[in-house]
Amino acid sequence: MKKLFIQTYGCQMNLADSEEMASHLLGRGFALTQQLEEADLVLVNTCTVRDHAEHRALSFLGRLRQWKREKPGRHIIFAGCAAQRLGKKLQKTFPYLDLVSGAREIEQFSSLLDQSGLFTPAAEAGTPAPQGVTGYVTIMRGCDFACTYCIVPSVRGPVHCLPSQEILAQAATKARQGCPEIMLLGQTVNAWQEENKTFADLLNDVSALPGVERVRFVSPHPIFITPQFLQAVGNNTKIARHIHLPVQSGSSKVLQEMKRGYTREILLDKIEALHRCGFAISTDLIVGFPTETEEDFAQTLTLVEQAGFSAAYCFKYSPRQGTPAAQMPLLDEKILEQRLDILLNKVRGLAENAYGAHIGRKAEILMESPTKGRTSDNFWAQTKKSYTIGSVVQTEVTASDGTLLFTRD
Ligand code: SAH
Ligand code: SF4
Ligand code: F3S
Repeated sequence: MKKLFIQTYGCQMNLADSEEMASHLLGRGFALTQQLEEADLVLVNTCTVRDHAEHRALSFLGRLRQWKREKPGRHIIFAGCAAQRLGKKLQKTFPYLDLVSGAREIEQFSSLLDQSGLFTPAAEAGTPAPQGVTGYVTIMRGCDFACTYCIVPSVRGPVHCLPSQEILAQAATKARQGCPEIMLLGQTVNAWQEENKTFADLLNDVSALPGVERVRFVSPHPIFITPQFLQAVGNNTKIARHIHLPVQSGSSKVLQEMKRGYTREILLDKIEALHRCGFAISTDLIVGFPTETEEDFAQTLTLVEQAGFSAAYCFKYSPRQGTPAAQMPLLDEKILEQRLDILLNKVRGLAENAYGAHIGRKAEILMESPTKGRTSDNFWAQTKKSYTIGSVVQTEVTASDGTLLFTRD
C-alpha cells in the first residue's frame, strides 16, 4: 500500500483541512505514515499569517527536492494558505511540485486529485479515525472582517457557514467514534449563523448530542461576545469555561487603526462579563503595529494586567503583502524586539498564577489518559486514581506546581 506523510503548519482550521484532504487520499488507496522516509506522497498544508510561518513551509518544501529524487514515483502536494497566496508561481520556483491546491479550493480537492491524473479514483473517502478525545468540526470558512494587518480574508475568502444539519451529523459521528469533546472551528467561529439559528443555539445543540461531554470553539471574535450570547450559553456547563479570545492590542487608537471594531473599554467590559460566567480567557497580542507608539504599547501592558488572561500568545507585527497596513512605514526591528521582550516578561507568570488560583476549587476533568486530563477551563490536571479515558471526573484541586493541577481523587 502507498504511504502518505502529512506536514501541517498554521492554525486548527488547517489541521482540520489536513484531515479532510487526507480522507480523500485514504480513499485513493493511501495509508498514513509518520515516517517521511517511507512515504510515497507528501501533503504540505501551509500557513501564511506571518512571514515566518510561510518561510517554514517553503524551506520544508525545499528539503523535499532531495526526498523526491531518492525514489522514483514520489509525489508532493502543496496546499493551504501559502499555496493560495503564491499560486502558480510556486511551480516555477519548485518545478518538482506535483499539485498546488489553495486553501479556498478545499471543497474541490477531490476533483483536483482526479484532474491531476496522478491518483486512482476511489469509490469512497475513508475518513481517518480521530486521534485522542477531541473531535474537530469545521463550522465556517473564510472571514468577512478586514483587519488591516491580516492576510487571512484574502487567502481564505469571504465567510461561508456550513449548514447546522451537516455540523450536527459530523459532531455526532465524532462522538460515536469516541470523542466526548467536540471543538468547533472557524476563523471567526462565532460569526456562524443560520436563518433560524444563532451560534449559541448551535453550541447548545452540539452539547446535547449523545456522547458529547464538552464543547469548545476557536477562534471567536470579540464583537460577537454579547450579553445575549452569554445568557444563552451561561448555564450550559457542557460548554467549556475557556475561551481563546484574540484581542491584539490594548490601545483604542491602535485597535481602530487595525479595524478591530472595538475599543479597550468595550473589550474590558466583555472580558469582565466572561469572567463572571466562569470563563478563563487566553488571547493573542501583536506588538509593533506600524502606528504603535510607546504610549500605545504601554496600554497593551496595562490591559494584560487588568484582563486576567490565563495565557497570551505574543507576535511581532509582520507586514503581509496586499494588506492596508503593509503600505505604512514599519517601526524599527529593534523596537519590535524590545517590545516583544517586555511583553513576554509580562505574560510569563500568567499561566502559573492561573494554575495557582485553582487550589481549593472544584474541577471537572475530562480524562485524556488514565491519570491526566483537562479541566473545563482548559488547565492540565493529574488525578490520584486511574480513570477511563474520555470520562469526566468531578473532584477538587488540592495543589499545583504552576503547570499542572493535582486533585483529591
Ligand atoms: N481569526 C482570528 C485570528 C487569526 S490569525 C481572529 O480574528 O482573531 C492568528 C493570530 O495571528 C491573530 O490573532 C494575530 O494575533 C496574529 N496575526 C495575524 N496577522 C498578523 C500579522 N500580520 N503580524 C503578526 N501577527 C499577526
Ligand atoms: Fe484576520 Fe481579523 Fe479576520 Fe481574524 S477577524 S482572520 S484577524 S481579518
Ligand atoms: Fe495560517 Fe491560514 Fe490558519 S494563514 S493561521 S493557516 S487560516
